[in-house]
Amino acid sequence: MKRFMTLCLIALLALATLAAGCGGGKKDDNASQKTEKVLRIGTNADFAPFEFQDVNGKEYQGFDMDLIRAVAKEMGYKAEIQNINFDGLIPALEADNLDVIISGMTINDERKKKVDFSDPYYKSGLSIIVKKDDKSINKFSDLKGKKVAVQIGTTSAMEVKKIEGAEVKEFNSSADTFLELKAGGVDAVVNDRPVNDYYILKSGVTDVRRLEELLTSEDYGIASSKKKPEMKKQLDAALKKLHDNGEYDKIFKKWFGNG
Ligand code: ARG
Repeated sequence: MKRFMTLCLIALLALATLAAGCGGGKKDDNASQKTEKVLRIGTNADFAPFEFQDVNGKEYQGFDMDLIRAVAKEMGYKAEIQNINFDGLIPALEADNLDVIISGMTINDERKKKVDFSDPYYKSGLSIIVKKDDKSINKFSDLKGKKVAVQIGTTSAMEVKKIEGAEVKEFNSSADTFLELKAGGVDAVVNDRPVNDYYILKSGVTDVRRLEELLTSEDYGIASSKKKPEMKKQLDAALKKLHDNGEYDKIFKKWFGNG
C-alpha cells in the first residue's frame, strides 16, 4: 500500500510539473503571477536614449524600454528584458531564446530574411560626430582616408564600409565608439542621429560637434520570429492601440520632447 501511495505521489508530482511547464514563455517564480505569460525581450542596453541602464545598472530605461513594456502589457504579457550584444540579438531570436527584439533596430532587407518586423515605430538616420577642431570632415564623403568608429553589426558599420577609403573600426557598443573618439583613436564616429545627439547633450563633452548631414533615413521596428507570425500581428495591434490612446505620444514626449 505504501508503495502504491508513493507511486501515486510521483505521478501527481509529474503531472503538476507538466502543467506548470505549459502555457508558453518561461516559468515565473513569483507564485502570485503563475498564470501570467512572459514576453522574452532582447535588447542591447547601451544605446541611450532608446535603451540603457540607470547609474546603479539595474533598471532598463529609455524610449524602447517604455514602449515595449506598454506593448507587452497591451498584449497581456509580463515583460522580461535581457541585455545582449547587438550582433547576438537576431541569432538569439532565431534560436528561440527570445520572443522579440527592440533595440533601435533598423528594418532592412537583409534582416527581413531572418526575422519579421512590426510596423515602424521610430524614424531615424545616421549622423557623424567629429572633434570640434577637426575642420577636414564636413560630410560623409570626407570620411575617405579617415578612421571611423562604429558599432558591430549595425547599419552604421554597413554604411561606412561602403565609403571607399574609410578605415572602419568596430566596437561592441556605441558608448565604446564615443570613448574611442575621446581617446583620439579615431577621427569620427557614425551612429544613429538621436544617439549621437543624446551623447552630446548628456555627456558634458564640449570638444565634439555633430554634422548636420544624415547619411540614411531608417525606420526602427520590433523583430519577432518568422515561425510565429501571430506575434507580429499582436505587436502591430498593440502599437496601433498605443498610437490611438495617446500612450505612444506620452512616451515619445518623455524622451524626445516635442522634437
Ligand atoms: N539602428 C542601427 C541598426 O539597426 C543601430 C542599432 C543599435 N542598437 C543598439 N541597441 N545598440 O543597425
